[in-house]
Formats: sequence, structure tokens, C-alpha cells
Amino acid sequence: MFGAAPRLAYDRSVEVLVRFRPSGRSVRVPRGTTLLEAAQRAKLPVASACGAEAVCGRCGMRILSGNESVAPQGEAEARVKRRNRVEATDRLACRVAPIGDVEVTARYW
Ligand code: FES
Repeated sequence: MFGAAPRLAYDRSVEVLVRFRPSGRSVRVPRGTTLLEAAQRAKLPVASACGAEAVCGRCGMRILSGNESVAPQGEAEARVKRRNRVEATDRLACRVAPIGDVEVTARYW
């Protein structure tokens, strides 16, 4: 749909903490790492049928805290969510790369 997750000029030497609920697992990852990649590093299953290409809408995660650490949803992400009936409060984990600490959950965890 719109290719790989955008890789902005993050300082990847800076790490952020991603916490997963309800498991309580957490992982430190370089800035610019997507939530999908972070969950995989934490050995949590992430639904995906498009190879993180922002097409399938299955990787939806809800950000419980740290919303200020993620970019606002763009129109392309909103369109994929509408087409795939993703909850409005969820974000596509393959699109969201936090620049600060966040806590997230997925409906199937
Ligand atoms: S993995 Fe398919 S939309 Fe994110």
C-alpha cells in the first residue's frame, strides 16, 4: 500500500522502553523501531497478513500511555483502519515508531 514504515532521522543510539499489557513484558529498543518490531523482540505474537506493509490492518495496538511519544495518525493509516474495520482507538503497530516510552496492548493478548 504505502511501503515500509517511514524511517525518519531518529537518533537510534537513544533507546525507548516499550511495555506490553497485560503481560507486563517490556523491551528497550532504538528510537525508530516500530511497535510491531518491539513486540516481536519481546516474543509476543503480532497479527499480520501483509508483512508490515500497512495493508491488512491486523496489527492494531492501543497505546495506553505515552501518546505524546508517537506521531499523530495520518490519513493513509486512517484509510487502512477504516477499510479493515480497525478500532478507531488502535494504531497500526507496523506504522508507529515511538520516540519515547510507551505502554501498549493488543486486543488478542
Ligand atoms: S501488519 Fe498489516 S497493517 Fe500492520
